[in-house]
Amino acid sequence: MKIEIRDLHFTYPAGVEALCGISMTIESGEQVAIVGQNGAGKTTLVKHLNGLLLPTSGEVRIGGWDTRSQPVAKLARRVGYVFQNPDEQLFSKNVETEVAFGPRNLKLDKEQVQSLVKDALAMTELSDKTETNPYDLSPTWRKMVALASVISMDTDILVFDEPTTGQDAMNIARIANVIRTLRQRGKTVITITHDIDFCAENFERVIALSQGKVLLDGKANEVLGQEEILATTYVDPPQLTRLGKRLGFKNIVRTQEEFLAALKLK
Ligand SMILES: Nc1ncnc2c1ncn2[C@@H]1O[C@H](COP(=O)(O)OP(=O)(O)OP(=O)(O)O)[C@@H](O)[C@H]1O
Ligand SMILES: [Mg+2]
Repeated sequence: MKIEIRDLHFTYPAGVEALCGISMTIESGEQVAIVGQNGAGKTTLVKHLNGLLLPTSGEVRIGGWDTRSQPVAKLARRVGYVFQNPDEQLFSKNVETEVAFGPRNLKLDKEQVQSLVKDALAMTELSDKTETNPYDLSPTWRKMVALASVISMDTDILVFDEPTTGQDAMNIARIANVIRTLRQRGKTVITITHDIDFCAENFERVIALSQGKVLLDGKANEVLGQEEILATTYVDPPQLTRLGKRLGFKNIVRTQEEFLAALKLK
């Protein structure tokens, strides 16, 4: 399902112009990371994908639907959004009910709901925590519940707002696994992240925002290689990329595999 954003401007009622003419197309099945300094407009941008915010001018189309002409409930069938803070999202008394809420709301039959919930719990490694109250879980696991409750909706597009913030290495690896599984299923995954290594290891396309505009948009290696431009939005390329550059590698590297391959060529 294609995402088309054309000349999107958005001004908050208080008068802050958060998005100043953003255009991009995201094809079905793409995995995109969005980076950029605090206040660059990342969250404001992704909140336009499911109609939580509507353009002040310009347009956002999801699979051809103009978000202004669709109710949020209908867009929720196409775009799942995991909030940066899971506590804004979770409200049920146990994990299973929480994860079942979305698909039940879609009025699917009981077996379908069960199978979606089971699958989302397995993907997020929560199958042994179904009876637990999300608030009795650590923040790390609460994050997984927030992911599961969106994955269970089986939308074509998933948006994760800072999924790795405050997570330990183990859970970051779990989240990377979830993203890999979603990729294999052909889902579009858009992830906002400040974790540049996570970005480099898991995404083929990177979009850098700065002050409400697109600063860079392209293949991960091309974007992460632009050290000076990224610095203007306070993003440092991954250590490996910088080291590769200092070692004089011909190509930009971002993963350990690429680094080792480039080292052998030298
Ligand atoms: N509810 C709001 N009312 C008024 N201004 C807002 C509101 N939410 C965000 N802003 C402003 O809009 C701009 C973009 O904010 P946004 O939250 O989209 O940035 P961000 O890139 O997600 O930042 P962060 O990395 O800190 O999450 C900032 O100047 C911010 O202060
Ligand atoms: Mg944000």
